[in-house]
Amino acid sequence: MEYQELLKRRTSSRKYTDQPLTNSEIEAVLKAGEYAPVGSNRYHDLCFTVVRDREVLRKLAEAALIRRSNTDEMAKIINNVSNADEILEQKNAYDPFYHAPAVIFISHRKQDLEPHIEWCNAASAALSMHLAAQDLGLGSCFMWFALDSMRRIPELDHTDLLDLPEDFQPLLGLSLGHIKEPLPERDIDTGRITVNWIGEYEK
Ligand SMILES: Cc1cc2nc3c(=O)[nH]c(=O)nc-3n(C[C@H](O)[C@H](O)[C@H](O)COP(=O)(O)O)c2cc1C
Repeated sequence: MEYQELLKRRTSSRKYTDQPLTNSEIEAVLKAGEYAPVGSNRYHDLCFTVVRDREVLRKLAEAALIRRSNTDEMAKIINNVSNADEILEQKNAYDPFYHAPAVIFISHRKQDLEPHIEWCNAASAALSMHLAAQDLGLGSCFMWFALDSMRRIPELDHTDLLDLPEDFQPLLGLSLGHIKEPLPERDIDTGRITVNWIGEYEK
């Protein structure tokens, strides 16, 4: 897909079909993660875990489900999300991973060499995979809420299920699947992020 068109079609997908993903589809997305820029070239500080086991995902969703029951907090968090009402309506069916057939967890080695660079690295890899998924005709969505919930409720932090190398912590996830509805091209209001120009602006 041409890049400008890809940008216009990119969206967070939260509805997936039951169609399983093939290994090659997932591998193509993972490859995009490997192509992402990473601070100081420290690719060995990142680790991707592909989870397709529903039981493991159910367990990893527990902390988010508890937090989800605080409707006020949830409403504030997703206030601006385009389908916020839909998400709030899903009570029993709610799954922070949106019943995706696969979730890629992005983990990083704990480090204090360059504080916080791990978050940038994880986001860099996640965005690259998110765009690649779109390009492949798949849907995906960043997963912050589920992972943040695990960090906030340590007794429900089941990240040991990810079988990570020692000293790695999961930071972000990316749900992945075949989309239910084809995505229309969107014309985004490009004025929604403040942009300041310092120095001369040539008209
Ligand atoms: C860092 C980050 C974390 C996010 N976490 C979640 C999440 O936990 N759950 C979710 O449904 N969407 C999540 N999203 C998706 C955003 O809600 C979405 O990108 C935003 O509403 C804009 O919509 P769009 O991606 O469809 O253009 C996240 C996005 C980013 C960049």
